[in-house]
Amino acid sequence: MTTKSIPVNPKQTGLSTGKTKTALQSGDTMKALVYFGPGKKSWEEKPKPLISQPTDALVKILKTTICGTDLHIMKGDVPEVSVGRIIGHEGVGIVEEVGTAVSNFKKGDHVLISCITSCGKCDYCKRGMYSHCENGGWILGHLIDGTQAEYVRIPYADNSLYHIPAGSDEEALVMLSDILPTGFECGVLNGKVQPGNTVVIVGSGPIGLAALLTAQFYSPAEIIMIDPDDNRLATAKKFGATQVINNSKENAIERVKQLTGNKGADTVIEAVGIPATFELCQSLVGAGGTIANIGVHGKSVELHLEKLWAHNITITTRLVDTVTTPMLLKTVQSKKLDSKQLITHHFKLSDIINAYDTFQNAAREKALKVILTNE
Ligand SMILES: NC(=O)c1ccc[n+]([C@@H]2O[C@H](COP(=O)([O-])OP(=O)(O)OC[C@H]3O[C@@H](n4cnc5c(N)ncnc54)[C@H](O)[C@@H]3O)[C@@H](O)[C@H]2O)c1
Ligand SMILES: [Zn+2]
Ligand SMILES: [Zn+2]
Repeated sequence: MTTKSIPVNPKQTGLSTGKTKTALQSGDTMKALVYFGPGKKSWEEKPKPLISQPTDALVKILKTTICGTDLHIMKGDVPEVSVGRIIGHEGVGIVEEVGTAVSNFKKGDHVLISCITSCGKCDYCKRGMYSHCENGGWILGHLIDGTQAEYVRIPYADNSLYHIPAGSDEEALVMLSDILPTGFECGVLNGKVQPGNTVVIVGSGPIGLAALLTAQFYSPAEIIMIDPDDNRLATAKKFGATQVINNSKENAIERVKQLTGNKGADTVIEAVGIPATFELCQSLVGAGGTIANIGVHGKSVELHLEKLWAHNITITTRLVDTVTTPMLLKTVQSKKLDSKQLITHHFKLSDIINAYDTFQNAAREKALKVILTNE
């Protein structure tokens, strides 16, 4: 192996070296989940990341999880993820080291890692659109090495980490790295959920359920969940859905018509990411209503403007910005929001291959979120 220096652009590498050090010189190793192309992953030894920019922090992972998006990566749906990449974009940990420009965090701090990295200074960050940060956005476990590892380098630590208050249930906070802000920002806020409204959520996975939980901040009159998985619908009922519809067994359009007096819903949230469900949303929205898309779509969908044009419909899209994380953290702390109920399975971090197997077979395993603990 030759000694080579590694580029320091935070988007290019999670293993940067600054001026003098190289990966080879660092010597320390750690274990991590490494992506080796579609369908191939391995829990193996990797060099421990180093601080490369003054704004970086090095975080020792305490708990992490697996996201539906990681499954998309594993299927090869996210081609920017290169072979050798450590994936994962959620977790909590302890700060091990900080760069010289980090002022909000110090060694030993317990932190929540945001799935979105943001510099806090560019035009997009100033507008609260962290997802489009010119130097960050969704890069963790995507364009740089991620959190399914014993250690992770977090660029722009001051803006991309959050302090965990002493005495917190850290496991519950893992749900704040991605799924709660996603359900809330892309679904509930964009969908303009209001008191007395009728809300339909298509897809009762972790993201749809996160939208269901956070929609209740606004006391809508009805929340109707649609999914083909009876187990997930039963969970939705427990989490506060007023009606559930199994659309593999019954006609969801007819049921929603019945339930809304033929009017359709005020807010329809798409939380699946396939053409069939976006098209279904267009048939469920009422006049003056909003379709809030959350799903990651890989294929084009048909837009029925010939039906929608006269109905004063709004359609919104969003990549989660995680700007509501501080607010959501308070609601979890005060127990107004019980995020822990989204967790169904626990594994050791070193048992992550089995955890993937469980999460990949969510219906069979009755799985929602799995927690991986670095012991
Ligand atoms: N916009 C963002 O920033 C953002 C962030 C994170 C995740 N996402 C996306 O949100 C979506 C949901 O994520 P998740 O983790 O909950 O995924 P998931 O795969 O766990 O859940 C999807 C749910 O949709 C259901 N479903 C499948 N086909 C359906 C159909 N025809 N009708 C109704 N329901 C159907 C499944 O049974 C499952 O319960 C994914 O596309 C994910 O990539 C978007
Ligand atoms: Zn995710
Ligand atoms: Zn920025």
